Parts: sequence; C-alpha cells; structure tokens
Amino acid sequence: MNTEVQRFEDVQELNTAAAELICQLAALNVKTHGGFTLALSGGQTPRRLYETLARSPYLHALPWEATHLFWGDERYVPLDHPDSNAAAAAQALIQYVPLPLPQVHRVPTEAATAEAAAEAYESLLREHFAVFDPSSELLQCPVFDLILLGLGQDGHTASLFPDSPALTEQTRWVLATPVPPLEPRVRRITLTLPVINAAKNVLFLVAGAAKYPLVQAISEHPDEAERLYPAARVKPTGKLRWFVV
Ligand code: 6PG
Repeated sequence: MNTEVQRFEDVQELNTAAAELICQLAALNVKTHGGFTLALSGGQTPRRLYETLARSPYLHALPWEATHLFWGDERYVPLDHPDSNAAAAAQALIQYVPLPLPQVHRVPTEAATAEAAAEAYESLLREHFAVFDPSSELLQCPVFDLILLGLGQDGHTASLFPDSPALTEQTRWVLATPVPPLEPRVRRITLTLPVINAAKNVLFLVAGAAKYPLVQAISEHPDEAERLYPAARVKPTGKLRWFVV
C-alpha cells in the first residue's frame, strides 16, 4: 500500500486537485485498457467535486465516452429520494456531461429488498468486469481504476460502519447493511473491503477539522486504527490518497 496525504487551503483547491487527478487517471486507463471505471462516493463532500467535473475544463478534458460510473455505496431509497447518492450525482454531474447513460451503473434500489438490490448490483459488476477486464474474473474481484470515498465522523467509509458484519466479508462484492446509527437512517448497499482494496487507486475526500484527528490516526497508524475505524481497513493494493481540507 502506497499512501499519500495532501492538505489543502480551501475546498476549491481540493476539488481542483481531485478533478486534475481524475483526468490524469482517466487518460492513463483509457490508454492502457480502453476505459475508465470510477466509483463515486456519496454524502455532501464530493458534490462540489462533481459540479467541478461538470464544468470547463474538465467537462471536455475527461474521456466521458470511455468512462463507466459506479457507486461505492447507496442508500436503499428510490432514485427520486433526496437521500439517493445516484440522484445527487445526476443533479451535480451526470446531466451535464456527454456520458452515455448505459455507462452509468447505479445500484438498483427499486429492488424489492436491500438484499436483492445488493445481489443485483453485484451481478451488474460481475457482468461488466468480466467483459471489460477479464483479469477481474481471475482475481475474483473487480479492479476499479479509481474509487472515491468519504469519511464519517465515526470513521465509517462507504456504508461500512463500525461493528458492521460487512467489515469481515471476504467473498461477496456487495452487501446490504443494517440501518446505521447516523443519518440518513436507512439501509444501505455497499462495496465490501475486498473490492475496495483491489482498486488501482482510492481517493478519500475529507472536509472539516473535526475529522483531522481521524485522518491522522488512520493514515499514520492504520493497523491500530482499524479496530475502531472501518476507513482504516482500506488498504488498497494500488495507491491510497487522502485529500483533506
Ligand atoms: C454516504 C457516503 C458516506 C460518506 C460519509 C462522509 O453514502 O453517505 O458514502 O460514506 O462518504 O458519511 O459524508 P460527508 O462527505 O457528507 O461528510
């Protein structure tokens, strides 16, 4: 694991750096394997980044025609619900960029249960990665080019909350998780740690001084921190970056 922590003066500087990094990784992966698989994070922090990507110069710089969008986690709510991560990304980004809709792979929360939504999303991943990246089939795990993650005040990331049974999952790629002790108190669907840790690149976007001690504990002493904070269990085979403001 190769970890880098970057502190920024303000949110705009962080978002510009994140947008530049996403463009660089997109160009590199389109060149090396003909596509770019990006898993978006939910919550508030990345929304300004999504708005940045929807505007010049990134609107024209990113190879949208070769990009496939996914989500690292989703709330088990309808697509038109205010807590939907997919709806938030559609509003801030997807409606403005020339990304073919078949390349937007959201968690199908219209499924009858959260478990069914998780199973359907996992099937979608298996189908996509078997076609676009046969090595994933061999690895028994999808290899995302970039996964964006946030950090909760309790050290959760994606929808992997402290003491969650999902933290020890080693086989499933996607799980439905219980209602968390944090808002929004709805069931979630989340990528599991084997998938997150198989990524070529993971980028945490963290805003707010209250989270600085968490970032320091997790990035400097992950083996100790992982007892308390799920985010400390993110130890990708690829590059791990923390962008903090
Ligand atoms: C979600 C996110 C979640 C989020 C953290 C941080 O669906 O809510 O995936 O993991 O990233 O809770 O959220 P903020 O960026 O809003 O602080």
